[in-house]
Amino acid sequence: MRLHIDILTLFPGMLDGFLAESILGKGLERGLLSVKVHDLRNWTTDKHRTADDRPFGGGAGMVLKPEPVFAAIEQLQTPGCRRIYLTPDGVPFSTATAQRLSGEKHLIFLSGHYEGIDQRIRDQVIDEEISIGDYVLTNGTIAAAVVLDAVSRFIPGVLGEEKSLTHESFTSTFLDFPQYTRPAEFRGMSVPEVLLSGNHGEIEKWRHARQVEKTRQVRPDLLK
Ligand code: ADE
Repeated sequence: MRLHIDILTLFPGMLDGFLAESILGKGLERGLLSVKVHDLRNWTTDKHRTADDRPFGGGAGMVLKPEPVFAAIEQLQTPGCRRIYLTPDGVPFSTATAQRLSGEKHLIFLSGHYEGIDQRIRDQVIDEEISIGDYVLTNGTIAAAVVLDAVSRFIPGVLGEEKSLTHESFTSTFLDFPQYTRPAEFRGMSVPEVLLSGNHGEIEKWRHARQVEKTRQVRPDLLK
């Protein structure tokens, strides 16, 4: 087994469909990676299975308690594993991070919770904090799924064609070129002539020009 990922969440059911379906599901089936989702409440000790509490100092919302998280991570962690907290105030996620994490043996993802988690968790049992973008989700479970999905694409064999990794947005500086498939004529809209020409040199040139154009329009920051 190349990579094992444990996901700690208060909403384990959110990931069922995600893990069962699609390309990631096939990777799991074929044993290219393994993922285990854990309900954080399994590490609570009171009869109400309390995982959160009110913040010291006042304020709205609830804060994830340290005890169940410390207990869970201490049980699951292995020497050299990376313990990652998903949070909007983390380091922005990128292709480079996905690629780096795909080379690890064991990752533990901790999904955040409403207003936040006790700082002592972050200080003591978290190695790395990741944000998937400048917006706030109701909880980090979807963020963990996003990171898992992007990481899995770098595990050899998960994507059918290794080629499809190299040609696309964010492995180069440019965004993707437009794609077309049959029919060549659809509701009066035709596929650009050059793509039907069979001239691979011209096709490459056309695609590169479209990439530059698209990047200039949508993400000029990438060209700097
Ligand atoms: N939890 C809530 N919002 C998030 C975000 N943008 N990234 C990672 N985790 C989150």
